[in-house]
Amino acid sequence: MDLKQDLQVRIDEAFSAIRFPDKPADLYDPITYTLGLGGKRLRPLLVLASCQMFGGETADAINPAIGIELFHNFTLLHDDIMDAAPLRRGKETVYKKWNSNVAILAGDTMFALANKYMLRTRPQAISRVVELFNQTAIEVCEGQQYDMDYEKRDDVTIPDYIEMIRLKTAVLLAASLKTGAIIAGAGTTDCDFIYRFGINIGLAFQLKDDLLDVYGIQEKFGKVSGGDIIAGKKTYLYLKALESSGLQAEAFRKLYSSHDIDSPVKVSRVKGIFNELNIELHTRKLIDNYYQKALQELSGISLPVEAMELLREYTAVLMEREN
Ligand code: IPE
Ligand code: IPE
Ligand code: MG
Ligand code: MG
Ligand code: MG
Repeated sequence: MDLKQDLQVRIDEAFSAIRFPDKPADLYDPITYTLGLGGKRLRPLLVLASCQMFGGETADAINPAIGIELFHNFTLLHDDIMDAAPLRRGKETVYKKWNSNVAILAGDTMFALANKYMLRTRPQAISRVVELFNQTAIEVCEGQQYDMDYEKRDDVTIPDYIEMIRLKTAVLLAASLKTGAIIAGAGTTDCDFIYRFGINIGLAFQLKDDLLDVYGIQEKFGKVSGGDIIAGKKTYLYLKALESSGLQAEAFRKLYSSHDIDSPVKVSRVKGIFNELNIELHTRKLIDNYYQKALQELSGISLPVEAMELLREYTAVLMEREN
């Protein structure tokens, strides 16, 4: 078994060991359902890989790793209500299968549970881990609010978008890595480098998410193809297309923000424009830019290159993901 698989197995085992009460069923069933669908469990892997890389004990990091994944799953339950998304991980979203009240409360419970898990680490690391976790949670909410605000605004710029995805997505990947580093007792400078590595990986990750939303295969991606187009999300793909569409910009803006057109028709028209303007290529270039920036940050860390191999390999795989 390779090192990455070894960590993944430990994460999966830790999740399988979590038991929830039977009652109230409409509180705990959706939590079991969500966690049972798994997902990539990327964030806990980043916690453990980082901890191990800096010479820490993964046993000290496993509970905070679970805590961060619980928090992530909570954000998904609420995000799917906010985005009116019917499908996640190839299955009905919680608010569709049950209802919005159920999804809100199950999400709240997961957030509280996440906090409990964050505390279960080395006593010397607890306050820094929890402070980082709570600050990150606030930033994710800020990002989610910008995401919602931007649906309604038509003056959103590409830098606005980058800042929005830094908050809603990148800070959690960065915090996962830094949490592992803190638990391992890494120095402040290394903690800062691994955090900035995570921010850049996180920006690339959300850009890829936005790309897959349009160009991914629904069966693999597990979310409705074109969901962002239907909702009128101000993604990089849209903003870049708007910038490149010249005289057609106004018509394109109207099409994209419209909610009156039949969804498949809207998706296919917008996708047609993206194709004409080579938007997939532009997006892939920007993803690669952030990936390269991430690697630069990694090279600043005061560890031998070999020690960082697992993380480097894993992030390379992540950049090629289709789900
Ligand atoms: C989805 O995250 C939300 C984003 C930040 C894009 P993931 O792509 O990590 O979702 P799962 O946990 O693997 O399903
Ligand atoms: C996800 O953004 C950010 C958070 C859940 C915090 P998206 O709305 O793009 O995520 P998906 O595509 O629904 O997973
Ligand atoms: Mg969403
Ligand atoms: Mg969203
Ligand atoms: Mg998305």
